[in-house]
Amino acid sequence: MPWIEFVNVVKHFDNVIAVKNVSFSIERNDFFTLLGPSGCGKTTTLRLIAGLEIPDDGKIFIANQDVTYKLPKERNVAMVFQNYALYPHMTVKENISYPLVVRKMPKAEIEKRVGYIAQSLQIHQLLDRYPQQISGGQQQRVALARAMIQTPSVFLLDEPLSNLDAKLRLEARSFLKHLYTELGTAVVYVTHDQAEAMALSTKIAVMDNGVVKQIGSPKEIYDEPANTFVASFIGNPPMNILRCEISENHCYIGEQRIDLQPSLKKDLQRGYLGIRPENLQLHPTKGDLVAEIFVVEPLGVETIVTLSVNGYQLKSLVFEDVPYKPGDKIWINFKRDKIHIFDENGQRVAR
Ligand SMILES: Nc1ncnc2c1ncn2[C@@H]1O[C@H](COP(=O)(O)OP(=O)(O)OP(=O)(O)O)[C@@H](O)[C@H]1O
Ligand SMILES: [Mg+2]
Repeated sequence: MPWIEFVNVVKHFDNVIAVKNVSFSIERNDFFTLLGPSGCGKTTTLRLIAGLEIPDDGKIFIANQDVTYKLPKERNVAMVFQNYALYPHMTVKENISYPLVVRKMPKAEIEKRVGYIAQSLQIHQLLDRYPQQISGGQQQRVALARAMIQTPSVFLLDEPLSNLDAKLRLEARSFLKHLYTELGTAVVYVTHDQAEAMALSTKIAVMDNGVVKQIGSPKEIYDEPANTFVASFIGNPPMNILRCEISENHCYIGEQRIDLQPSLKKDLQRGYLGIRPENLQLHPTKGDLVAEIFVVEPLGVETIVTLSVNGYQLKSLVFEDVPYKPGDKIWINFKRDKIHIFDENGQRVAR
């Protein structure tokens, strides 16, 4: 049996369907991430696991128990809320230790655990302050510490790093991943940041508009996106998606023809060609399509080159020096074995 299971769960708020018939299963050792744009139903899904919302239909299981109609306190979950929800009348230290105090853990053990977690999240110098005396990012780390100090059946984390600056966010991410390996229980994590989802998760569920569009490992989601929504949500920059006409083993983008690998031959007349930016190579004199350099953005290790082709734009990710400048004419090459084809409904048919 999976550790957490959602079976055809539905949740409405008046006339909004926040969660539409969602099913998934999470193993005890999973770091399971709900990823998707704002309003797609991530928080609602997490609150359904916590018992803060009751589904209109479907079933929820945690640790082999049907918890669909159980109260939050009967579920043994630790949650970090998107808006932190710290106790305002308690100091940072009291906030973090509260779940352990309630469980009557010995004082010395509490001190030790609070010290470790506060140090790891760089809030040890704030322990005697009150929530209103610290910044939003600091409050967020306190909320994270208060959850991570517990030993629940499942950790539910709703965008716990969203208010941290870029450097701290990366550090907290590594700490979280390290801590997860020590925890020995499932984490359900919510983010709209695809890089965070890729870095942390064992499994990702990509959501759109209350529906799960794909569930898989980060590698599966990246290499074999089930549809154009997932393909264009994952990756930075995301996959290039181009309308194309298909005939035998060629596809046409406007007038320009690209030969496809024989394995890609499908019974389609038109659809979409997808290719990740790192699989579009640039060459000064030969290739599949002629393009004009639109803009060049060096990022240190890699450079994002935006190209104009017949009125649409493509992005290429280049790991060598880029000798081109805006306005230059160059050629683009599509790595043959990295081309994806999607049908007119955006469903992936082959690669
Ligand atoms: N209590 C509520 N009453 C009415 N509508 C709600 C309520 N909670 C959520 N919704 C609606 O349900 C949908 C899903 O909301 P949810 O908070 O789950 O999204 P989310 O994916 O967490 O978004 P974000 O990334 O912005 O936090 C949205 O359309 C939202 O407006
Ligand atoms: Mg949310």
